[in-house]
Amino acid sequence: MRSHQIPVGGTDVAVFEAGEGLPLLLVHGFPFNHTMWRAQIEALSGRCHVVVPDLPGFGASGLPGETVTMEQFADTLAELLDRLNVSGPVVFCGLSMGGYIAWQFWARHSHRLKALILCDTRATADTPEAVAFRHRTAEQVLREGTAPLVEAMLPKLFAPAILQRNAEPVQHVRQMILEANPAAVAAALRGMGKRPDMTGKLGQIRCPTLVIVGEHDAISPPGEMQQIAQAIPGAKFVTIEAAGHMTPLENPAAVNQAIDRFLGELESG
Ligand code: MLT
Repeated sequence: MRSHQIPVGGTDVAVFEAGEGLPLLLVHGFPFNHTMWRAQIEALSGRCHVVVPDLPGFGASGLPGETVTMEQFADTLAELLDRLNVSGPVVFCGLSMGGYIAWQFWARHSHRLKALILCDTRATADTPEAVAFRHRTAEQVLREGTAPLVEAMLPKLFAPAILQRNAEPVQHVRQMILEANPAAVAAALRGMGKRPDMTGKLGQIRCPTLVIVGEHDAISPPGEMQQIAQAIPGAKFVTIEAAGHMTPLENPAAVNQAIDRFLGELESG
């Protein structure tokens, strides 16, 4: 895997690349880093050019400010692709917060988009109560670090059977949350609280789209994601068995197969 540290969007962004061909941008959720895509990097770099950033503030990337909006993340990714000389349109695959960023990448950089893969995400904005909760959580994390977030988030992220076994994906996610920079966590929480409602815009999406959801996802439930798929013209919808919100880690084989099939259909026209 090739790794770089690239000055973009007012900070240094860490990005990892593997393989050649169609660019596939894998954008992680909150508060994770590029390693959540490790099984996809391994499986899909044989058929495409996988580009996997640590979003600003996360992993090995610097943090540009006290609030980072989904629009800023999207613009930073577009600039990052320029710096990497990825000039052709990309397949943008985002999980959860990565999906919130995908909507803004579509809205602001649609000429750079070949296709969308939306994993375990939502199109609605936060309610005022949810925004207030994000602000309280941001203050708590700045005071106490990210440990309280582990206890609050883990039960919602996994299929019950995976959580009960404390399986390897649970330990991996716990580690990612514990290692996350509190200032970045706070900045992303504030940014997610500002994100717009995209539900009314879904019908305008014209690129091929794949919607993926874990059958036990408690954060972006299958019914809600099916509505997203129904609102996007021609979108495909895949439910991943034995998975909750963290589908790429919980059932990597099924996620890889769904993405692989979608890429095959894209390539065959
Ligand atoms: C994520 O996985 O990115 C988060 O659950 C998104 C959110 O907090 O809305």
